[in-house]
Amino acid sequence: MSDRHEPADAISVRGLRKTYRGAGGAEVEALRGVDLTVPSGSIFGLLGPNGAGKSTFINILAGLVVKSAGSVRIWGFDQDANPRMSRASIGVVPQELNTDPFFTPREALEAQAGLYGVPKSRRRSDEILAALGLADKAHAYARSLSGGMKRRLLVAKALAHDPAVLVLDEPTAGVDIELRRSLWSYVRELNARGVTIILTTHYLEEAQEMCDRIAIIDKGRVAACEDTPALLSRLQDKTLVIHPETPLAAAPAGLDGLRATLRPNGDLALPYARGADDPLDLVARAQAAGVMVRDISTEEPDLEDVFLALTGDRAA
Ligand SMILES: Nc1ncnc2c1ncn2[C@@H]1O[C@H](COP(=O)(O)OP(=O)(O)O)[C@@H](O)[C@H]1O
Ligand SMILES: [Mg+2]
Repeated sequence: MSDRHEPADAISVRGLRKTYRGAGGAEVEALRGVDLTVPSGSIFGLLGPNGAGKSTFINILAGLVVKSAGSVRIWGFDQDANPRMSRASIGVVPQELNTDPFFTPREALEAQAGLYGVPKSRRRSDEILAALGLADKAHAYARSLSGGMKRRLLVAKALAHDPAVLVLDEPTAGVDIELRRSLWSYVRELNARGVTIILTTHYLEEAQEMCDRIAIIDKGRVAACEDTPALLSRLQDKTLVIHPETPLAAAPAGLDGLRATLRPNGDLALPYARGADDPLDLVARAQAAGVMVRDISTEEPDLEDVFLALTGDRAA
């Protein structure tokens, strides 16, 4: 991998749009003008809820879905002007487990390498299968593999032509903890060897654990794109929820300086900065303001809060 030239940006996408036409003639705007740059050598996360457009984006990169408008450069190659080189630069692990039941893993890798014109002398099928713990299944029919093995085979297939960029679409959906751990450690190893990694997920935790940089995509648009620490620093607020003996009709007076809000069920919500504020002080303040505390709980920010924080920020 060290012998190949490395452009500054592994992926560069401008004005990308995709409109699907459904059976009834209804149109779905899956991507509504996406600009995105993935720096070479990074582990980049595409984070967003179901239906956000992540797979559409990935499948356009892979050449599996035809874009409606915009430009895509992969490893410096324009997808339209240089389709062969741009396709050779990327390997995609799809969201669905679509293995060919009649191929053995080794045959699947050889076929994939052949498809990309990799000469026999430069193929690394056995090495890749071994790295993914499939060496002893090299000659088994794919239909006899477990779900976890099929997932690893898809990763192996995506690597068969030695792409500069590896894309994993929801790699841990339905995957057990052990496979998840081994998958991540292998992805990190590939990245250390120079492979740029893009992964999609709808779990904030997963993106923050793995990625150097995260783009948040929602309803076909990029809501934010930042280095992970910068993104997380926006999410330092937790919420203390006070469940009173009887539901409150209004937020009590005397909580000045706190961003207290009343929930529809009569609970009192008090945001606080993780590590800086003491939630027990907030409980004391509420009690001093006359709230009879029955119970308390705390809430972590979730993806929804991230969107709100970001869109709130943008409006400001
Ligand atoms: N082949 C298709 N035909 C019509 N609509 C589609 C097709 N694929 C995806 N969509 C729609 O496009 C939107 C984005 O879907 P998708 O890219 O799969 O999002 P994600 O991967 O983030 O869950 C959704 O509204 C989805 O229903
Ligand atoms: Mg998807």
